[in-house]
Amino acid sequence: MSDAISIIKERTSANNFDPTHHMSQAEIEELVQLSINTPTSFNMQNWRLIAVSSQEKKAQLKALAFNQPKVGDAAVTFIVVGNAMGYKDLPHVIKPMLDAGAIDQAAYDGWIGMANGMYDNNTQLQRDEAIRSGALASMTLMYAAQAKGLVSGAMIGFDAQGVAKAFHLGEHEVPVMLIAVGKAAAGNWPRKARRALSEVLSTL
Ligand SMILES: Cc1cc2nc3c(=O)[nH]c(=O)nc-3n(C[C@H](O)[C@H](O)[C@H](O)COP(=O)(O)O)c2cc1C
Repeated sequence: MSDAISIIKERTSANNFDPTHHMSQAEIEELVQLSINTPTSFNMQNWRLIAVSSQEKKAQLKALAFNQPKVGDAAVTFIVVGNAMGYKDLPHVIKPMLDAGAIDQAAYDGWIGMANGMYDNNTQLQRDEAIRSGALASMTLMYAAQAKGLVSGAMIGFDAQGVAKAFHLGEHEVPVMLIAVGKAAAGNWPRKARRALSEVLSTL
């Protein structure tokens, strides 16, 4: 296993995946278990992953992803799903902290009250939070894959409405992105050029 800095430097998007490589349910679960460590606003964890690995479902998803070959070739393509109403689950999601005595009843009630105050009646922020959390979980998933010697390829090139319908997303769920994960085949691009530090950093 590589250290975190090496993983950050080594990860690139793969287009070419070994179509003979399969991932076991245990391997898929290990990546998702690592992704669960992703931070989210109020710890609401308003995202989930659909692991598309069967030939039949991969073909269905590939057609909805403008026939991008990696969806068919990669061992798994994850549909990253964000939930715009995730803050409504907070009473359940943070209850283990109350039960463990990590927070008291007043903090528990205050936590939920603050989230309701922030997100109720603000559909823009609700959707932003679904995308934000899903994006952070996506990054964790891609780094977890890299750490396990796999490669990944994020995709926004897909029919969002079609994916939501075909994969039975809920009314308040948003397909954030697709992430193909598997073993690299030959011919992937080397690291692409990046902006200069001076273009992205202002130190005040
Ligand atoms: C949100 C997002 C959506 C992307 N969508 C696609 C896509 O639909 N198809 C594709 O081939 N690459 C897609 N990419 C890959 C980007 O082109 C790639 O990340 C970028 O060129 C930087 O290269 P690197 O990931 O190898 O560092 C996407 C990447 C991200 C983060």
